Amino acid sequence: MTIVCEPSPEQATSLAGYLPGSVRPVTDILSVSDALSADPAETVVVLGAGVELSQALDFTSWLRQQRPGVGVILLRTTLDVNDVLAAMRAGVREVLAADDGAALAEACRRFQHQFNVAPATAGPPGPGGNVVTVFSAKGGCGKTTLATNLSVVLARAGQRVCLVDFDLTFGDIAITLGLTPKRSIADLATLGDELDEAKVATLVTPYQPNLDCVLAPVVPGEAERIPVTSTAAMVDVLSGMYDYVLIDTPAQVTEHVLAALDASHQHILLTAPEIPALKNLRVTLDMLDLLSYDRAGRTIVLNRSDAQVGLTEADIERVVRNPIAGHIPSSRDVTVSINRGQPLAAALPDHPVSLAIRQFVAEHVHQAAPAASPAASRRGLRLRRR
Ligand SMILES: Nc1ncnc2c1ncn2[C@@H]1O[C@H](COP(=O)(O)OP(=O)(O)OP(=O)(O)O)[C@@H](O)[C@H]1O
Ligand SMILES: [Mg+2]
Repeated sequence: MTIVCEPSPEQATSLAGYLPGSVRPVTDILSVSDALSADPAETVVVLGAGVELSQALDFTSWLRQQRPGVGVILLRTTLDVNDVLAAMRAGVREVLAADDGAALAEACRRFQHQFNVAPATAGPPGPGGNVVTVFSAKGGCGKTTLATNLSVVLARAGQRVCLVDFDLTFGDIAITLGLTPKRSIADLATLGDELDEAKVATLVTPYQPNLDCVLAPVVPGEAERIPVTSTAAMVDVLSGMYDYVLIDTPAQVTEHVLAALDASHQHILLTAPEIPALKNLRVTLDMLDLLSYDRAGRTIVLNRSDAQVGLTEADIERVVRNPIAGHIPSSRDVTVSINRGQPLAAALPDHPVSLAIRQFVAEHVHQAAPAASPAASRRGLRLRRR
């Protein structure tokens, strides 16, 4: 059942004609709350063009807290860019032209499917704009795999996510998600000094409902042209547009990686049960301490945690001198999913690897404590460092 809120009964009847399945029409926002209370399984609310914008946005913000699993589709007679941005900020999943019945039907179908299969493991929504960087100083540990799957899990649990590829030379997010990059982070160079949401929105490539990406440059050498201050400013703006900004990184501590770490509320540090990866994690932890990042915002994840390679969990924690928060098992299905261009958490949400990532999200991601003071980051790069 889809709840349609439209003050004009004629308009409501006409909208109902486009929608798949049964429809419950209501004429005001208060009745939407009542209809939702009566049906805990409801997943889609359509707010018609007759609903006043400020009322629609207030209601959506409230609903995001109360029922994050319900998607709101907002219809407008004209699509004004500022209204669309305000709607995104409030948590509206899609803003559509009021006369585009086909797009409305398609969006409803997508959301019903998405939320019916969505895992309900994410905790209560975190404070808006959590910035999370996934890093490992050892190449091939699974950063891109974890970053893409984390993004999918968060998005499917109702969070608005932007996944950003800071691996500026060899970025793999586009290929891992089966996306063809038409724009990339390199386009930052064309946007001038003063970034705002409208400009940053032009860098974004949509992937699926709730999940957008800022992709790495496709042309070698473009990375050098991207000023580190611009990437930091871009992350700052993105954090005002999404619930989560997830940053995938290369295996080197570049200036851009430092900017990402500076801007982050949580650092997810990935390792694997092999001595070089553990040694590099130890060195990374020492470096982060030296740079005065708050340890409370640090989470360690062990990828391929079940590999029988002669190291016990106790051995690993002794080398790393920190508890391991997340354990991702090894599976060849991970590689198969990458080759198919679809993250495992999307293709097989109940696969052991997907379940491990969902459990990690539920237990650790939404509880992120600030690794860096966002206010300090916004004052400029690396203010907090010695
Ligand atoms: N849990 C896992 N089980 C099996 N294979 C995995 C697992 N995690 C990652 N892989 C495989 O390891 C390879 C490297 O993964 P990924 O590209 O995510 O690493 P990365 O840290 O991003 O690498 P780079 O440093 O090159 O960016 C991929 O082929 C991926 O399929
Ligand atoms: Mg990678």
